Amino acid sequence: MKFTTASFREAKERGEKITMITGYDYSTARLEDEAGVDAILVGDSLGMVMLGYDDTLRVTMEDMIHHSAAVARGAENAFVVTDMPFMSYQTSVYDAVVNAGRLIKEGCASAVKLEGGVKVKEHIRAITDASIPVMGHIGMTPQSVNEFGGFKVQGKNIAAAHRLIEDAKAVEEAGAFAVVLECVPAELAAHITKILTIPTIGIGAGADCDGQVLVYQDMLTMYGGFKPKFVKRFADVGGAMQSGIKAYIDEVKAGTFPAKEHTFKTDDETLQAINDGRI
Ligand code: KIV
Repeated sequence: MKFTTASFREAKERGEKITMITGYDYSTARLEDEAGVDAILVGDSLGMVMLGYDDTLRVTMEDMIHHSAAVARGAENAFVVTDMPFMSYQTSVYDAVVNAGRLIKEGCASAVKLEGGVKVKEHIRAITDASIPVMGHIGMTPQSVNEFGGFKVQGKNIAAAHRLIEDAKAVEEAGAFAVVLECVPAELAAHITKILTIPTIGIGAGADCDGQVLVYQDMLTMYGGFKPKFVKRFADVGGAMQSGIKAYIDEVKAGTFPAKEHTFKTDDETLQAINDGRI
């Protein structure tokens, strides 16, 4: 059954946890969809895990559209949410609506996600007024990495917690159907989850959020050596890939791959001509 914005709301009402995972290409999206994940996030984290940048700031609308359309082709039941990249909505409410529209029309997304709370309330309202579902994202918002002075946990003191609560309320009031809480102390995330009617999706925000999201390269051990505290490694796909690639290299070098069963045959006449040196 296709997961929808209504499914997000119903899951919260029923107390069922929502599962979301990042995806950036067709074949991975198919695997995630077939595994039964509720939603796939085409995160601008693709700048880091797919394109090798140090942060998400250089990701463009064209990058997001390209990857989003590939994911949408692989997601039969999962709900596809695509990130609005840095400077695609901060510049004006008008730009926000136009670029959200491109992610839906050209990127085939079902919803868009953008970072910020009170500051982007009007942007969220205008996008939802254009009938485009919006997922909010507050707490440690990676597009503000230079403002924060690094990837740091947010809401750790009373003033910061108060600001975060105001951001959460602003996102809900503006019409978002869900909100990501990133790197927020667990008790504060639980409190925000309780006071909002829309579901919260946590990443580094404890177990009491209405759902969870992780970058798949982190949880499957496919990206670098650094493991953020909030990541659990559920499989060693990177290790499995490397041993498969090493076995391929060894067999090619040894001449044992390709074997007979991987090879095509010619017809007898052509074979004879090759053997006679006629061709
Ligand atoms: O870009 C991304 O992958 C995200 C998640 C970390 C929530 O925004």
